Amino acid sequence: MAAAAHEPADRPDPARTNDYDSFAEAYSAENETGINNAYYERPAILALAGEVAGRRVLDAGCGAGPLLAALRERGAIAGGFDRSTAMLALDRRRLGADADLRVAELGTPLPYPDDAFDDVVASLVLHYLEDWGPALAELRRVLVPGGRLIVSVDHPFAMHSIHRAAGRRTDYFETYHYTEEWTMGGRTAPMSFWNRPLHAMTDAFTAAGFRITTVAEPHPVPAARELFPDEYRALTTSPSFLFFVLHAG
Ligand SMILES: C[S@@+](CC[C@H](N)C(=O)[O-])C[C@H]1O[C@@H](n2cnc3c(N)ncnc32)[C@H](O)[C@@H]1O
Repeated sequence: MAAAAHEPADRPDPARTNDYDSFAEAYSAENETGINNAYYERPAILALAGEVAGRRVLDAGCGAGPLLAALRERGAIAGGFDRSTAMLALDRRRLGADADLRVAELGTPLPYPDDAFDDVVASLVLHYLEDWGPALAELRRVLVPGGRLIVSVDHPFAMHSIHRAAGRRTDYFETYHYTEEWTMGGRTAPMSFWNRPLHAMTDAFTAAGFRITTVAEPHPVPAARELFPDEYRALTTSPSFLFFVLHAG
């Protein structure tokens, strides 16, 4: 994947950005094998989740389903939703006809009853949203009291450092929008993100009724050292992602 960042002139048009449908196969292949997902983000989420056998788990923004598959292999009763029908088609191919996979938009009412899940994982999806309030309220609603929300996002200070070094941003404390162009599988697509400072994240979690029990900045798994020596060195000296475990109050 090649990425080039630039500042947009105006607000993102949801219909023209973050179109995972347009590069689902290429993104999924990269996610399966690359250091960022396969050797860093996904193992970290699974380590934070720990023993999940018998737990009802919802994967919010499940993409093509590699995390869902890993959760199911560990005995979880796991289903997921995503806004991208092409990603969900890959998911369906991986998990089979009986998997509970739904098209839904995080940030709007979700198609699940109250108290339906013991855990929700939201892996690399919240940073697409400007306002985390409605999304977190829905994730809180579908969790049982005491249930866990396990989150990964782009690390706010890492993103800020990149944007400051490029001369695009100087104020860490603001919540701001930025776009990147992702080129994958020969296709270029505009991607739209919101970066916010750490305190804006923790404030949003507590305002939605979550108690923060873990904030984690893990390294990639050791197997990545030989496979991706340069990236491993970079990620063990400067994080890309930030992880939280929250409990529904
Ligand atoms: C970076 S991918 C991560 C996929 C998966 N969670 C993983 O870690 O392998 C982000 C996923 O979030 C989905 N997504 C983005 N915004 C969303 C929204 N508002 N509601 C539902 N899904 C969304 C995208 O379609 C994409 O599949």
